[in-house]
Amino acid sequence: MSLFDNDSDGSINAFSDNKKIWAIGGGKGGVGKSLVTANLSICLALMGYRVCAVDLDLGGANLHTCLGVNIPERTLSDYLSKKVHDLNKLLTPTAIPNLGIISGAQDDVGIANLRQIQKSKLLSKLRELDCDYIILDLGAGTTFNTLDFFIAADQGILIALPEPTSIENTYRFIKSVYHRKLKMIEELWEIGHIVDQAINAKITTNSLPADLIDKIIEIQPQIGQKVKAEIDNLRCKLIINQSRTQADIDIGFSMKLICKKYFGINLDYVGYLNYDATVWQSVKRRRPLLMEFPNSNLVTSFDKIIHRLLNIS
Ligand SMILES: Nc1ncnc2c1ncn2[C@@H]1O[C@H](COP(=O)(O)OP(=O)(O)OP(=O)(O)O)[C@@H](O)[C@H]1O
Ligand SMILES: [Mg+2]
Repeated sequence: MSLFDNDSDGSINAFSDNKKIWAIGGGKGGVGKSLVTANLSICLALMGYRVCAVDLDLGGANLHTCLGVNIPERTLSDYLSKKVHDLNKLLTPTAIPNLGIISGAQDDVGIANLRQIQKSKLLSKLRELDCDYIILDLGAGTTFNTLDFFIAADQGILIALPEPTSIENTYRFIKSVYHRKLKMIEELWEIGHIVDQAINAKITTNSLPADLIDKIIEIQPQIGQKVKAEIDNLRCKLIINQSRTQADIDIGFSMKLICKKYFGINLDYVGYLNYDATVWQSVKRRRPLLMEFPNSNLVTSFDKIIHRLLNIS
């Protein structure tokens, strides 16, 4: 049996139908989000799925480089500024069969804070693309844009480095996801007063975010259980990148335990990628890692990760 987590609830077909949009995020810049987006997309394309990689790092787009394509002529900027209405027109083919890219906005004019309605519309348009999987490369940090795309995706995948700053930022990201999701539920079900009551109730200063849900259950059992179910649905995946030692790899298991205890959120640890010189060599050559170094150790790691994400082992 694998030490890592697998979902227990789906076949590959269930994923094709229901778990189409994957979002790759991380609390910090430079942790490998674009590397992972590009190479997971390539893995899926090589498996025969039709894949679209989307650069949602609005303002800092560079996914095209990881996929070995020049900046496409049309980018999401054209869609967001209503010059292009059909996302299919932004889909640029790559050298890899079955894999296209929608490139990100090169400037952040009018994009930094998309309105909720624009985000929902963009997501439903992405879902309509004629692809099996849509892989979103999110920007760094915890802006509402990033959090909302992460929460709305069918799978949210977090990338963390095995170093204190990145781990801290990952927890901060998860905490922001937790609070954003709670806020959404609060507004949707108009239960702000119950949540406020729970916050104001005598919870000690040491109480954990997870305790808040218990308090809501205490106040309003039925609503509380519904909130709990929604938070339970927030299953994030975790990849540790740039590991060098077994201790680095094991950090993922500790993070999983802490996340459950602190936030009541299931963090599925789906694998690690070692620090490897082939990464920067392929970046320098502007060629995707998986195509440039098909025999590197990282390819095996990506293969394991993709199998866990697809729940086929
Ligand atoms: N496993 C690895 N081994 C060696 N170098 C790596 C590895 N992963 C990432 N890097 C290096 O780290 C740099 C950042 O990676 P990447 O651009 O994928 O991060 P990012 O999270 O998308 O960054 P940003 O937040 O700026 O978009 C890359 O230039 C790459 O050279
Ligand atoms: Mg990036």
